[in-house]
Amino acid sequence: MAFPVAASAAIALLLVGSIDFGSTAAAETAVEKGAKLDEWPLIGGNNYEQHYSSLAQINVESVAGLKLAWYADMPTPDGLTGIPLVSGNAVYQSGGLGKAWANDVRTGKQLWEFDAQIRFPLPLLASWGVRVSRGLAVWGDYVLKATGDCRLFALDRRSGKKIWEVTPCDVNDHKTITGAPRVGDGKVFIGNSNADSGIGRGYVDAYEIATGKHLWRFYVIPGDPGKGFESPAMEMASKTWGPKYWERSGGGSPWDGITYDPRTRLVLIGTDGPAPFSPKLRGANGGDELFTNAIVAVKADTGEYVWHYSTTPGDGWNFAATEPVVLADLQIQGRKRAVVMSAPKNGFFYVHDAFSGKLLNEPKSIVYQNWASRIDMSTGHPVLAQETQYWNNPSGSAIVFPNPMGGAHGWMPMSYSPKTGLVYIPVMDSGQFLGTEEGSSVGDARFDVYYSRDHGGRYEGDLIAWDPLKQKEVWRKKIGRPYEGGTLATAGGLVFQGRTEGEFAAYRADTGEKVWSFTLDSGILGAPSTVEIDGQQLVLVAAGSGSTSSILFAPDFEGHTIGPARLLAFSLQGSAKLPPPRDKVQPFGKPPAPEPDATLAALGSKVYDRSGCDLCHGANAQGGVGSVPELRRIDKGHLDLLPQILRGGLFTAAGMPDFKDEIKPEEIPALRAFILQQAWTAYRQQK
Ligand code: HEC
Repeated sequence: MAFPVAASAAIALLLVGSIDFGSTAAAETAVEKGAKLDEWPLIGGNNYEQHYSSLAQINVESVAGLKLAWYADMPTPDGLTGIPLVSGNAVYQSGGLGKAWANDVRTGKQLWEFDAQIRFPLPLLASWGVRVSRGLAVWGDYVLKATGDCRLFALDRRSGKKIWEVTPCDVNDHKTITGAPRVGDGKVFIGNSNADSGIGRGYVDAYEIATGKHLWRFYVIPGDPGKGFESPAMEMASKTWGPKYWERSGGGSPWDGITYDPRTRLVLIGTDGPAPFSPKLRGANGGDELFTNAIVAVKADTGEYVWHYSTTPGDGWNFAATEPVVLADLQIQGRKRAVVMSAPKNGFFYVHDAFSGKLLNEPKSIVYQNWASRIDMSTGHPVLAQETQYWNNPSGSAIVFPNPMGGAHGWMPMSYSPKTGLVYIPVMDSGQFLGTEEGSSVGDARFDVYYSRDHGGRYEGDLIAWDPLKQKEVWRKKIGRPYEGGTLATAGGLVFQGRTEGEFAAYRADTGEKVWSFTLDSGILGAPSTVEIDGQQLVLVAAGSGSTSSILFAPDFEGHTIGPARLLAFSLQGSAKLPPPRDKVQPFGKPPAPEPDATLAALGSKVYDRSGCDLCHGANAQGGVGSVPELRRIDKGHLDLLPQILRGGLFTAAGMPDFKDEIKPEEIPALRAFILQQAWTAYRQQK
């Protein structure tokens, strides 16, 4: 069943009340105790974030008969990445450009649309981040929604109407929010991102859900000691940084995984690395640079520091630890232990005691990695390999595995099945060339994206089953390219995963054998969810893989398909059909003549990278997805308007930033030559 793309708020309001949104008390208790079978109110199902369901109607035997039950076209150009949440007969979904929706869980019919009314112009980073949203949280009668222009909303679950709105961060402080809010204990926790810029400090804010009242803020890295420390934790952290760190470093953004642990009443914050990336440029002195690349546990009531673990202290490779953690109760040496499991970008798998943060076994690598030989159990620190420290090498460069842009495992959730005792992780098996060079778009280290593909090395996305107790791989399935979707494990003995190339598949949880597959013309990045409605198990997934990376790296994701944005539901009783796929790639038209001068185009390429055009229009102008046009298809009229577009704010209302402070008038012909050159190359190279 499809719905018109432009479902207005007025139509949505008319529909409200046509279904019973169910009781709210149930949803609230479900969050704490583990979701009821007809509820999936939080990203990982419940606060444990296991992405596991005890439903087994769809199982190893019956899965062959799994069919599309319904689909809903979602009115967004930028794709979806959030996990479909279900509460009281509605499916809740988050989108870019400030949108959120509720759809009927039985039919897919839209019940309401929320529009945060994003107002451009916004600063560069917010203008980029605002196109992406990794999800919502449902708590009782509230739907919590964050937007890339640094706002957090509480919406009424039944009507989609705003109850309160706060502004946790400042877009003028080079910040955006792309992650989903997390909830627990009547509170909502929200982090932010600075996109590895090294500008500013990351932090997490907590608000009371019932009132929107601000409860506390936890800064991830220390500021200028001259201004005083916010907490003893910041004073402690300041001792682990190099001299005058506050003048040249920043980071620690908690941009995704934030987990409330109901067993300990701690909030576990996953943090990003320090920037600039090269330790030399930060003046790092070998300290841990707390609390970057770490899991930090703070008290839910006060935000007070309790414990931390640094996964990659003194980082030079951008190995963030923002990936969402999984909570579980495991039998270790005959004793039930409350544990926290994590697989950050650096390639190791960690099992921590949830109360103390102590490592419960020796972490092992989930992919090939060459930056650390092992984790020293006496210190908890990695034992570093000299050759990957490009900042100390005579050549100033190194090839590093896993690749520092996406890491071994990104934000795409892993799942844990208490039935098999295994963790199912979408991993990226690839490396990257890194070198310190001037004029690079990341400010210091030069990243040759996905080096290994061009050089015959690994460039793969695998699905692995990992035994957290034995720290051992149980099976590994080659899935495709790096960067595939999050996973869902079920008591039916299945693991579900979507792919960016447009496949939704089920694998046997015990062997990895593929037992079911569905093809669609949209990529999938978010994890699926599952509920039982009227005695039928439904598996839900959001398609149209809109992420900040797919905007930036579109050329490296050939085959990666963004849209159309759709919500899909599958059941054993399903009988719906998708419309025929669209033509994925439209041919390039003949660009305006004459062909540009190569030297001028090369200069334009530098201006393009320096100005951050690649963030939205893709590396080498080979992107442009969703709400951002592809520059290689620009027409002569707009090409001639380049001065007004770049330095006159012509398209700022649609989110194309004004670059009058960054780009000089005399640089515009060079940019024009570069865009034209890329257009001519694309036109010639097509078959
Ligand atoms: C934050 C995202 C973002 C960044 C960064 C960005 N753009 Fe854009 N750009 C857009 C959007 C969105 C549009 C579409 C505006 C519209 O629909 O009117 C656009 C439109 C354009 C167009 C018109 C294209 C056409 O076919 O009509 C040109 C040219 C352009 N951008 C060039 C650039 C250049 C050069 C840079 C770097 C200096 C840049 N942009 C940086 C988002 C961005």
